[in-house]
Amino acid sequence: MKATALAHPNIALVKYWGKRDDALILPHQSSLSLTLSPMSVTTTVEFGADTDQVEINGHTAKGSERDRVLRVLEAVRAEAGGKLGPARMVSRGDFPAAAGLASSAAGFAALAVAARAAAGLAPEPRAASVLARLGSGSACRSIQGGFCEWRKGERADGADSFAVQRFSEAHWPELRMVVAILNRDEKEVKSRDGMKLTVETSPYYAAWAKDAEAELPRAVELIQRKDLQGLGALSERNAWRMHATAFAADPPLSYMHPATLGLIEHLREQRKKGTPVWFTLDAGPNPVLLTDAAHEVAAEALARACGAVDVVRCVPGGDAVLKSEHLF
Ligand code: PMV
Repeated sequence: MKATALAHPNIALVKYWGKRDDALILPHQSSLSLTLSPMSVTTTVEFGADTDQVEINGHTAKGSERDRVLRVLEAVRAEAGGKLGPARMVSRGDFPAAAGLASSAAGFAALAVAARAAAGLAPEPRAASVLARLGSGSACRSIQGGFCEWRKGERADGADSFAVQRFSEAHWPELRMVVAILNRDEKEVKSRDGMKLTVETSPYYAAWAKDAEAELPRAVELIQRKDLQGLGALSERNAWRMHATAFAADPPLSYMHPATLGLIEHLREQRKKGTPVWFTLDAGPNPVLLTDAAHEVAAEALARACGAVDVVRCVPGGDAVLKSEHLF
């Protein structure tokens, strides 16, 4: 009745931006990401409590954070036949305080795996991915390691909208992602609100969704060939296009800061000088640099030279796993 799981975050190379169903978190397009080590979130779930209790990083969760966790627990209870009762959940991330990386992907992936095990449901990456998706879209890509593709699916109930692993973390161990923290502040517009505004008001939205879907098989081919230059170029143009559709929203939405553009510009110059380094950018000002093991130190140095207050160097990470040690 009690189980604990550990999961890693992921960063998308072909981004997810925009939902066709806000409640079920169903996307308009497919996306592709790399699971990242060493950062992780560990979560313990036990059914059979007096009331639902949700504790994240030492605080009792409230509001939408709590609601999203309860949603996932509710779906597990339904799948297990509805006889499990309230649950206690405790979750802890080992992210550096200023990682600037959303821990929600790792958090909901760990929750999905732990809650299914605590409910006695068989380990099933597909079912865990659908479940994690109900908490946070990108979390469905953190159930497995390496490169995961979130297939948008066609069904209205979301049963075919989950992530599948395309290549394990062992496929390309030399690949590196270097997170450049330019600004530690909470972003002003959460991705969930930014996406909604973009879908509803950006005249470029349909073009974005069509293009991202078409880029995905190209990204898979480049990963297959371990073509860093090709993948770097694809990841940059996909990030630019995601941000371009947000710029065109009404009111306009920009997650970039002047320092973000400064760093991006600097990367171009560095590439001309022979350093293989590219960027991707989520819904915030902090770029994630894509490079290889031989250049991660150079990537960190150039991020710091462009104003990064913190840098986190990451390698391809593995699957979400069950642990025998519990948090309570
Ligand atoms: O799943 P959410 O609500 O954290 O949204 C993630 C959106 C991006 O990080 C910008 C892109 C992505 O695919 O992860």
